[in-house]
Amino acid sequence: MSEARLTGSEITQVLALVEAATAADGVGPLSEHALLRLRDGGHGLTVGSGGIVGYAHLDPATEDESASAELVVHPAHRRQGHGRALLRRVRDEAAGPVRVWAHGDLPAAAGLAGSEGLARVRALFQLRRPAAAPLPELKVADSVRLRTFVPGRDEEAWLEVNRRAFADHPEQGAWTLDDVRRREGEPWFDPLGFFLAENDRGLLGFHWTKIHPDGLGEVYVVGVDPDAQGLGLGRTLTLAGLHHLRREGVPQILLYVDESNTSAVRLYESLGFTRHTVDVMYGTP
Ligand SMILES: CC(C)(COP(=O)(O)OP(=O)(O)OC[C@H]1O[C@@H](n2cnc3c(N)ncnc32)[C@H](O)[C@@H]1OP(=O)(O)O)[C@@H](O)C(=O)NCCC(=O)NCCS
Repeated sequence: MSEARLTGSEITQVLALVEAATAADGVGPLSEHALLRLRDGGHGLTVGSGGIVGYAHLDPATEDESASAELVVHPAHRRQGHGRALLRRVRDEAAGPVRVWAHGDLPAAAGLAGSEGLARVRALFQLRRPAAAPLPELKVADSVRLRTFVPGRDEEAWLEVNRRAFADHPEQGAWTLDDVRRREGEPWFDPLGFFLAENDRGLLGFHWTKIHPDGLGEVYVVGVDPDAQGLGLGRTLTLAGLHHLRREGVPQILLYVDESNTSAVRLYESLGFTRHTVDVMYGTP
């Protein structure tokens, strides 16, 4: 087992291993971030004598987050203890709690994680639908007005609804004015794709859409104030954004949603979204 900076030939071997695993499993074992680090020869753990048969990418813990890892064993060398050895090494190296991300939802990953005492802590779905697939017409209740976001005016009200809607998801709910301003400065930011629903008392919910540089559309964030939930506003706002993305001519629309957010998953599935990828996080419960 080694963990020095990889040489050019080692990087080539690991990339071939990743390719073989992708072909065998039907899903790539490493995130884009881990692949970039690998191509740079960055810190990674390898197993195999004579040739590399397994690789682990490890991001050490930061002030805010525990360490996180991704690992893969060549399909021709599985069930020989390499995965377990890599995982144990990753945990030693992390010297604290570690989150292991597994792409796809494969039984081997679940088996290895379970046999090492790690539990499925989270699963993140990427759902997609073709933009041109049939879409219900947009109907807005008489008491609700739909309009688009006005930069410089709507930030504070938006932050408040975002905070309330995502009270249980601090990575979204704790956004600050700075977080919003930074995104307003991004080339993709388009206020005409950022929908707000309001009534006489104020802002009720929003749907912020995004168009990626490669042309894909995204349901970036949808949130409804807890006091206005259950009235169909989530569906109305989602539809408003989907019609917008379709008018903009995107071929596909994607979104990320946590498996545990069952009401959101149900809403998106009812609007024709299906599972494109699943990333599972294993860790200490
Ligand atoms: C998951 C993976 C790393 C396992 O590598 P491996 O070298 O075959 O694993 P090991 O031989 O060390 O197996 C250790 C234990 O994991 C479990 N396991 C491994 N493969 C399994 C499978 N196909 N089904 C069920 N359990 C499995 C078993 O409990 C096994 O112990 P055992 O062989 O004594 O029964 C490998 O299948 C892989 O690269 N998959 C794609 C990438 C991935 O999913 N990574 C995330 C890992 S959490």
